[in-house]
Amino acid sequence: MKFKNINYSQCWEDSDILLSALKISHQDIVLSITSGGDNTLAVLSKCPERLVSIDINCLQNYLFEFKLAAIKNLSYKEYLELLGVKNSSKRQDYFLKIKDLLSTEARLWWEGNTKLIKGGVINLGRFEIFLRLFSRFFLPLIHSKKTVLKFLDIDNLKNQTDFYDNVWNNHRWYFLFKVFSSRVLLKRFARQKGSFEYATPPDVGSIYFMRFEQNLKNILIKDNYFIRYCLTGSYNLSSLPLYLQEISRTSFVDNNTKLYILTSDMFKYLKSVPNNYFSKFNLSDIFETLSEQDNINLWLEIVRTAKNGAIVAYWNNLVSRTYPAGLSENIFDDKELAIKLNKIDKVPFYGDFHVNIISK
Ligand SMILES: C[S@@+](CC[C@H](N)C(=O)[O-])C[C@H]1O[C@@H](n2cnc3c(N)ncnc32)[C@H](O)[C@@H]1O
Repeated sequence: MKFKNINYSQCWEDSDILLSALKISHQDIVLSITSGGDNTLAVLSKCPERLVSIDINCLQNYLFEFKLAAIKNLSYKEYLELLGVKNSSKRQDYFLKIKDLLSTEARLWWEGNTKLIKGGVINLGRFEIFLRLFSRFFLPLIHSKKTVLKFLDIDNLKNQTDFYDNVWNNHRWYFLFKVFSSRVLLKRFARQKGSFEYATPPDVGSIYFMRFEQNLKNILIKDNYFIRYCLTGSYNLSSLPLYLQEISRTSFVDNNTKLYILTSDMFKYLKSVPNNYFSKFNLSDIFETLSEQDNINLWLEIVRTAKNGAIVAYWNNLVSRTYPAGLSENIFDDKELAIKLNKIDKVPFYGDFHVNIISK
């Protein structure tokens, strides 16, 4: 399949809960969906023995290579500037410093798309462009910049909920939020192709509205870089995803993990993998776009290629997809841990987080 765009230039899945679920050790062999690269980088920072990062869209892998080359070879300040976390007029110069470290395909693609580097690569995905349109043009119709900054600066949950109820949650917010998170707009402009094929809820906007409100009750947005990006189109340096934090840099520079980056459909790839190979799986929410039968087929391959005791972590967004009942003898569903982690998931989009342990 030929992809024209990077759909996600960041991972909209919380790497903190992913790492708490997977408990990566140096002996692990990990399979991870690439997406924006961020969660594969989070896994890499734990130095597993081997890591296979896979995406059906080669451009997501080119982005991951770009981020990895930047973190390993630039100073921290240059890295944040090149990626778009900090303002910069020198992004093209920094790109010249890292381009020869990319695979030939990735280098040629970035050389042909240097204009994308100008705005900072964390901002270039279809999904991120959509979110930034919201924060730049629509949110100002609801709240002033001062009100947005006040909301982002509250430092306890009680005040946050009060502010939300008394100041933030007016009619315009409710209406525009629901329009912006409606099926029509998300399908056309934001999410991966096929995301809505099996999603039955008619009023998607109301579901996301409820999830957003629930998230605010449990998590302080002052520390939530995902919400901050949704509301301002940028990050604050005091709260960054793991792969952008200075503290994690050394784990990328001194790293012995054998890393493989593959462009393939997950099922096709697993078909080529021997039995009992992987010990950890980060599967994003890839089950959403599969038919019931494809879901069953993929799970059969996951169980076949997993070691005894392997951990599989994944999210459900609008489609409730988990392992088929026929495999329940081989899979322990760690609901207790998943519910605990779901509560502290910083991303407000998901219905469920799953932690499954393979037993064979
Ligand atoms: C599943 S998407 C989800 C992103 C986000 N959680 C959302 O719901 O909008 C993340 C990445 O998975 C990749 N992907 C989806 N299905 C895949 C498959 N069957 N095999 C390999 N990669 C896949 C996509 O190309 C994308 O980069």
